[in-house]
Amino acid sequence: MMKFKKNDKFEAEVIDLTHEGSGVVKVDGYPFFVENALPGEKIEMRVLKTGKKFGFGKVESYIKTSPYRVTDINLDYLRTGIADFGHLQYAEQLNFKRKQVSELLRKTAGKVDFPVLDTLKSPKETHYRNKASIPVRTVKGVLETGFFRKQSHSLVPVEDFYIQQPEIDAIVLAVRDLLRNYGIKAYNEVENTGFIRNIVVRRGYASGEVMVIFVTRKAAFFKKDDIVKALTAQFPEIKSIMQTVNSSTGNAIFGPEWHTLYGQDYITDSMLGKQYQISGPSFYQVNTAAAELLYQTAIKFADLTKDDIVIDAYSGIGTIGLSFADQVKHVYGVEVIDAAVENARKNATLNGITNATYVTGKAEEVMADWLRQDIQPNVILVDPPRKGLDEAFIEAAASTKARSIVYISCNAATFARDVTRFEALGYNLDKVQPVDLFPQTHHVELVGILSKK
Ligand code: SAH
Ligand code: NI
Repeated sequence: MMKFKKNDKFEAEVIDLTHEGSGVVKVDGYPFFVENALPGEKIEMRVLKTGKKFGFGKVESYIKTSPYRVTDINLDYLRTGIADFGHLQYAEQLNFKRKQVSELLRKTAGKVDFPVLDTLKSPKETHYRNKASIPVRTVKGVLETGFFRKQSHSLVPVEDFYIQQPEIDAIVLAVRDLLRNYGIKAYNEVENTGFIRNIVVRRGYASGEVMVIFVTRKAAFFKKDDIVKALTAQFPEIKSIMQTVNSSTGNAIFGPEWHTLYGQDYITDSMLGKQYQISGPSFYQVNTAAAELLYQTAIKFADLTKDDIVIDAYSGIGTIGLSFADQVKHVYGVEVIDAAVENARKNATLNGITNATYVTGKAEEVMADWLRQDIQPNVILVDPPRKGLDEAFIEAAASTKARSIVYISCNAATFARDVTRFEALGYNLDKVQPVDLFPQTHHVELVGILSKK
């Protein structure tokens, strides 16, 4: 039985860190999760909440602090999760991410001491994000932009987002001020009223070109022309202003309806020496310089030759496949978002690449179609979203003669699960390289390679 109740205080030692960056304290095997507490620290803890299997605690005071602690971090970054690892020194963040991948491979895939490589660090440790998706709400009667407190929808106003390019922060603030000046209403998600839900800003890392997306609850946009005029006068680097209408009550940011309010419906950026057009709904890695390292690692692992036929599954706007298209015979890409597929085709042309074919559809279905058309890949590269690969996809991929599967993952848990499935079907995990695409946050990215036994 848990012997403590709410508001009890006691001294405790922090023994671990969760995936999301909370400290772990254990009392007779019962865990408490404590924000802003690092392994090795001694704290006086106050109980916030107790449940059946675990509870939550708060640091009342630090008795001993970790040598790996960052002491000058703004606590709003931890509270909102903007930088939920911001209190841990960067070198330790990299260590922790490697250890987590290795733990998941042990727990899920039964691999004891798999030699996961040291996490490659991001060329930029802060202010790296090329995209911001900022909720707009009314706080104390004023329209504010910021970030939600963790596990809640109460907005904490933020002006310096710490991990975004500072040029993006400046545009978010300018948009906020314009919305205030023109008396535009912020969204209220409890009553489903108000107008502006989110401001999304994407800024090319190399190009500096900017797209601003207004996410609105309804289509009719009062004072739209004045706002567009003022914004583009202040920021000539804005090449595109879009509006997407999202009248649903869910958590999805973008809606089905898109309008171009100004300029083009895309911006252009470059990665690994190639040009890419990126439209509003398309995925584009948020940390460009670190993503280049990720792609280079995947390409090195794949050990490509001029005769190779390569599948680029979950291809987005084509950034991975087009990076190596000139080293292989043919690239087949599949991607579910139509706008991204259109970008990928255009991007191939833009870079003079004629040996890449892109199909809109679900990877698991298109993979089966390709096999029926007798397309025989030598290498299959996958880069799925967090939920990982569909079993049907794994079965289809493993039924080919492909010598290797190059797996880029943003979720080590589903990666480890999928590794066991591939291993049951004749592939062997060779190497795993974490690459830090998300400094100061708990997110882990990696590239693994499996080869045919
Ligand atoms: N490789 C790209 C995109 C990776 S993100 C890059 O590096 O930029 C994952 C992509 O998978 C997204 O573009 C998403 O739209 C797409 N996607 C999600 N589910 C899919 C499915 N079932 N089949 C194909 N693509 C899917
Ligand atoms: Ni997570």
